[in-house]
Amino acid sequence: MSDMQTTSAEQVADSQLLGQLDSDLLPRHLAIIMDGNGRWAAQRGLPRLAGHRQGLRALQEVLELCHEVGVPNLTIYAFSHENWNRPLPEINMLMGLLKEYLHRERKKFLEKKIRFLPIGRLDMLPHSVRMLVQEVAEETQHFSCRTLAVALSYGGRSEIIDAVRKIVRDIQLGTVTVEQIDENLFEQYLTTYGLPDPDLLIRTSGETRLSNFLSWQTVYTELYFTKTLWPDFRRREILLALLDYQRRERRFGRVPESVPQPSKL
Ligand code: FPP
Repeated sequence: MSDMQTTSAEQVADSQLLGQLDSDLLPRHLAIIMDGNGRWAAQRGLPRLAGHRQGLRALQEVLELCHEVGVPNLTIYAFSHENWNRPLPEINMLMGLLKEYLHRERKKFLEKKIRFLPIGRLDMLPHSVRMLVQEVAEETQHFSCRTLAVALSYGGRSEIIDAVRKIVRDIQLGTVTVEQIDENLFEQYLTTYGLPDPDLLIRTSGETRLSNFLSWQTVYTELYFTKTLWPDFRRREILLALLDYQRRERRFGRVPESVPQPSKL
């Protein structure tokens, strides 16, 4: 049996977990650091590309489950600023995989009304990748119910620096005053503007850090770390993460009785 095939016993177990989910307590925005593709491949004596390919299949499964249960926004860390330091053949391979993915999925984004939102310093991407990324973003930009944000050449700190630069420019142009700067205004200059902050962030592979991902947006995000490597992160794993999230008490600095329900936030 291949790594991604599911037995009927597993399907029964998954539907039991699905039945335990409270549809009123789902995250409106899920962020994922998809880590462990290389280790997954190494454990099987396979090239790293095999791990990334299998990682892409895990992404498909997570996207489908998000759709099925009603998690409208997903942000994935596909390529960080730091990933530019990887060997060139691996960078090229990841860029090739991204192009392949977008060519294959763009029709599905349109059919399922998913907004594809690339975030990060896109000007650092190779020309052909940047063009394709921008095309798919433009053709899906009018969809407002579901978003797949893909962090590419992304760093949380550089996103903040870029926002500061844009604000300074607007102050120089006279369209913004120093007195107007507050958290609400600042957020309008971030690449994630319009999305709610992530309610839940998942990182796979046993690493327990945020690695410069959504630094501004995750201050009140619930964190879920699992030792499962990303290519093995299947329906069951995401259901377990969502159920764990639903057991948490989110207080946002308040005392328990004054905490509004997610639907009222
Ligand atoms: C981390 O695993 C994963 C990445 C740097 C890339 C994530 C990419 C994918 C899941 C596939 C491509 C995605 C798209 C949207 C085309 P790692 O390589 O750091 O694993 P390791 O820590 O075990 O070496």
